[in-house]
Parts: sequence; C-alpha cells; structure tokens
Amino acid sequence: MNKVVVITGASSGIGLSHAIFLTAKGYTVFGTSRRSQTLDKKQLKEDFVRDHTKWKFTNKEKTIVKPTKNLIPKKIEKNLDELIDKIRFFNMDVTSDDSVEKAISEMEIEAKKINDRGIDILINNAGISFFRSAEVLSMEDWKTTFDTNLFGMVRVAKAVLPQMRERREGRIINTSTLGALAVIPFQSHYSASKIAIKVFSEGLRVEVKKFNIKVSTILPSDINTAFNTNVHAISTSMDPSTKSVDLEKMINQSPTTPDSPYYEYLNPVWKVIVKNLIVAPPPLVISKKLYRIIKARKPRVNYHAGDPIQRILVFLIRRVVTNELVDWLLPLYFGLK
Ligand SMILES: NC(=O)c1ccc[n+]([C@@H]2O[C@H](COP(=O)([O-])OP(=O)(O)OC[C@H]3O[C@@H](n4cnc5c(N)ncnc54)[C@H](OP(=O)(O)O)[C@@H]3O)[C@@H](O)[C@H]2O)c1
Repeated sequence: MNKVVVITGASSGIGLSHAIFLTAKGYTVFGTSRRSQTLDKKQLKEDFVRDHTKWKFTNKEKTIVKPTKNLIPKKIEKNLDELIDKIRFFNMDVTSDDSVEKAISEMEIEAKKINDRGIDILINNAGISFFRSAEVLSMEDWKTTFDTNLFGMVRVAKAVLPQMRERREGRIINTSTLGALAVIPFQSHYSASKIAIKVFSEGLRVEVKKFNIKVSTILPSDINTAFNTNVHAISTSMDPSTKSVDLEKMINQSPTTPDSPYYEYLNPVWKVIVKNLIVAPPPLVISKKLYRIIKARKPRVNYHAGDPIQRILVFLIRRVVTNELVDWLLPLYFGLK
C-alpha cells in the first residue's frame, strides 16, 4: 500500500491515537509537533494509556475519580511499543510559515523515497484553546487561537496542495468540533475558529474537486484527552508539574483568579467541561471514524463523531429546538442558572 499520512499535532491525544491506529492499519505515518526532538516514546505510551482509561467518579459531588478499565483493544496494546516506534516525528509549528514550508518539503522528500509519489493524506489536527471570557481574553490570545486552529490548517493545506494537485490525487481531513455547532461559554474564540475550519473545508473541497483531491471535516464530540490540561496550562499560571492524570486537581483548580469579573460565572462552567471530558469516549473512537473517511470512495463533506448523546444534542440544537429554547437550556447545562 505504502500510503503516507501526515498528522499534525501527533504528540498527544487524538493526533497520537490517529498515528498509532493508522500505523496499525499499515500506513506510513509522519507525525508533527513543536517538540519532536524531545518527545519521549515512554511518555507517549503513558499518555495514550491515560487517554484510553475509563474513569469513574466515586462521590456524589463528582470530585474524586478512579480508573476502572483499560479501553485499548488487545491487538493494539500487544504491539504498542512497536507501533509508536514506527511513527516518524517531524518538527513543525503550524503558526509559522517557515516551519510549515520546511517540514512539508522534508516530508515530501521522505515520502517519495517510500512510495514514489509523496504525501497522500493530510490530517489537520493540531489545535489549542484558552478558557477565558471573550472580554478578558487578550487580542494576542484571540489571534493565537485563530493562528493555530484556523490559519495553521490553512498553512499546512497550502503547503501540500501543489504536489497533490500536480499528481491529481490526495485527501485532506480537517479537525473541527461539535463545540463549533453548540457553542461552549468562555470558549467563544475556540468555537469561532472551529466553525471557520468547517467553512474553509467546504470551500476548499469544491475548489480542488477537479484535481481529484477530497476534503472533509471531522467534528468530534468531547474526547478524553489532555486537551483541558493544556487549556488550563496556557490560561493560568497553574503549577507546571500538573499532569493529565491529575484529574482531581483539574476539577478543583480554577483556570482563572478571583480578581476576574467573570470568576463566579466561569468556575461552574469549567467544572462541567472538565467532568464531561473525563468520562468522554477515548480518542480511538475518532481514529476509527477517521479511517472510515480515508477509506471512503466518495467521502462526505462533514462527519460528526464520538459520543452519541452529544451528537443527538447537537442535532436537536441545530435542527429541531428553537433558538429561544437553546438560549434557555445552554446556560442551565453549564451551571450558569
Ligand atoms: N479532546 C476533545 O474533546 C476534542 C473535541 C473536539 C475536537 N478536538 C480537536 O482535536 C484536536 C486535537 O485535540 P486533543 O484533544 O488531542 O488535544 P491535545 O492533546 O492538547 O493535542 C493538541 C496537539 O496539537 C499540537 N499543537 C498545538 N499547538 C501547535 C502548534 N502551534 N504547532 C504544532 N502543533 C501544535 C500539540 O503538539 P505540541 O504541543 O507537541 O506541539 C498536540 O499534539 C484539536 O484540534 C482539538 O480542537 C478535541
């Protein structure tokens, strides 16, 4: 087969899961991260295991958690070290034109050595968020969100497209979120960047269709990754030793300080979000959906993926329930009433 897949943000969470799953399916995976040189294979394995642990709250207040089950399929678990070893990591900061151009040229050369063609599939996955009110989030951080989540995907797509267009073959799958369709308070910057990804993909899809390049968007539900730990880390001066397994610390430590005018409002929402993510499905659920998109002869434009209940809720919010009811229900759901 010798298909080469580039996955951005493959150093953790959903991207790492895609990299492991597609390697297991026989693809050659080039994973990218800003810290490729220092990535530790043992740590990658620990992170993957953490993300594929089923957690359970053991008290009524839902502040104490314990691991109950390992969710990694036996076939993958048995070969995990070998699969992680096979992933080739490249340094790439998606917010930098130079870094993206350099990394993609290097990966095109390496891909040609493997399959004589170049990069076959691009999975645009790298993403970040802050946890802040729209008012308090600085303009610099608004720009960082868009520069990473939206322009990051545009940059990498622009870098792979010339080769795909010449070869008249290629696939690009961009990662949005269901949170772009049912907005999360204090993440309006994130949801705005992610809805823009969906629109960007829809436009690009039509533009490149005649070159036999297929573009789709995947919109995952909440997924149990270190995303919120990373959100917390860039939103506050949280103790840097905090790890993604320190779940109780995450629940109890506010991502803002009491002097914030939104302190009272923001904390209950943070708790709802963190608790939801802890019991959310593992990343491999999204990787299996991604694999189906890659294999589809005629991939659809958008794919909702992950937790079935959240997918139904989003369907109701977008298609059935009136705006007035959504306006009433959303604050209730997030503990704001
Ligand atoms: N977890 C969820 O509930 C969820 C739900 C829906 C959608 N998503 C989306 O899924 C994607 C992956 O999220 P995740 O949950 O796996 O989060 P994660 O564990 O925090 O992973 C984020 C990845 O993005 C990379 N990244 C961040 N900034 C980057 C930059 N400037 N340049 C290059 N790479 C960068 C990180 O790599 P380095 O730090 O090593 O550079 C890391 O590999 C994101 O786009 C997210 O919005 C997540």
